[in-house]
Amino acid sequence: MFNDLASKEYIRNYWSNDANSYNRSILSTMQSQKARNAWQELFTEVLGEKDLSILDVGTGPGVIALLLAELGHNVTGMDYSYEMLSNAKKNALAYGLPVEFRQGDAENLPFQDGLFDAVVNRHVLWIVTKPEKAISEWQRVLKPGGRIVIVDGNWYRNEESLKRNVWQYLSKFLILVTEHRDPRVEDLDKEFKEKLWSVKAKRPDLDVNFLANAGFKDIRVMNNIRSRTQSWLEYLKNGYWGDIFLVTGTKQ
Ligand SMILES: C[S@@+](CC[C@H](N)C(=O)[O-])C[C@H]1O[C@@H](n2cnc3c(N)ncnc32)[C@H](O)[C@@H]1O
Repeated sequence: MFNDLASKEYIRNYWSNDANSYNRSILSTMQSQKARNAWQELFTEVLGEKDLSILDVGTGPGVIALLLAELGHNVTGMDYSYEMLSNAKKNALAYGLPVEFRQGDAENLPFQDGLFDAVVNRHVLWIVTKPEKAISEWQRVLKPGGRIVIVDGNWYRNEESLKRNVWQYLSKFLILVTEHRDPRVEDLDKEFKEKLWSVKAKRPDLDVNFLANAGFKDIRVMNNIRSRTQSWLEYLKNGYWGDIFLVTGTKQ
């Protein structure tokens, strides 16, 4: 059932259906100065302080794009889902930050070669159907010397463990009480999940291989991003998903 086209449509619908709930959850980052600073410090550590032209692929509600724009970068946020982009545009207006948003596919970017100083993405690579195709596209739109930044996690590792399941219940209760939103996360379709490359992958080791095979240099991995960027309450709500890592490299 899940050929490439069906997978893409499934992904688009999955995120579009979840767009409003995801927006409410993720805006907690914008509402906490500590969280904003933590993400901005992380990206500054990797990208430097010079003003850059940056593409945020799979921008969703646009939080990373907005944080980068607040640092003075010239940012374009791109997503496959119109519903996600609609929230992203509202968020940019609400925070008065100048980000341009475009609809498009991470594996077929609507941009010319060599346009950006950096291509960043958070929690996106795991869900694309062809990760190597996506990375080669991100590389194509980078200028020589430009940086790729992948932030992601092993979301479905240890899914059967008792600790993870108990924690997930606690998390749902906390989300209901503190965010007043429906804490249910729609499960991925079983057949889709079985075909998804990232579910059984050993990451970030595989990401390093992807970047090395594509010819990136200065490849670097940073771990423990969750503890660096989340308050204890956010950690209690989201930590059952496991740690977050960052992988970066430079286009030759
Ligand atoms: C978990 S959300 C992450 C959103 C945002 N990067 C963040 O960190 O808050 C994943 C996003 O990736 C987008 N996405 C998934 N596959 C995509 C693709 N092939 N092209 C563009 N966007 C995609 C989804 O629509 C969704 O907005």
